[in-house]
Amino acid sequence: MKKIIIINGPNLNLLGNRETDIYGSTTLDEIEQISINKGNELNLKISFFQSNSESEIIELIHKVQNDYDGLIINPAAYTHTSVALLDALKTISKPKIEIHLSNIYNREEFRKSSITSTGVDGMICGFGSLSYILAIEALNGLLVN
Ligand code: DQA
Repeated sequence: MKKIIIINGPNLNLLGNRETDIYGSTTLDEIEQISINKGNELNLKISFFQSNSESEIIELIHKVQNDYDGLIINPAAYTHTSVALLDALKTISKPKIEIHLSNIYNREEFRKSSITSTGVDGMICGFGSLSYILAIEALNGLLVN
């Protein structure tokens, strides 16, 4: 069974309460559960992780090359700020997908640029919690092809 890690950045632990008009009312625990279910359907073992700490996220990315077959990341606000996260992503030669709940191109100017997206294979944004499911399907496609 292939192993996928889904990494969530800062403030995503507050999903369900946080700016629900933008991010919806689904909690991160619920997203974890639907992601695991989708993984079961596709015969993928999903690990789910959230941290508010940039260094913890970087440390985890360093483990991906040896411990996982692919990575999905919602870097949250670090998307727009973190060259360190981009550099970490660039060290991984496994399939990598960036996701966002919201359409970052349809929001404030500072959200329209993603530093981290140049370190991944593709990006899915704007579909709410469905972005996670679409990314799992896309990653599965990259892994079987
Ligand atoms: C987000 C978009 C980011 O701009 C924001 O900082 C987040 C969430 C999203 O999933 O839509 O925290 O990554």
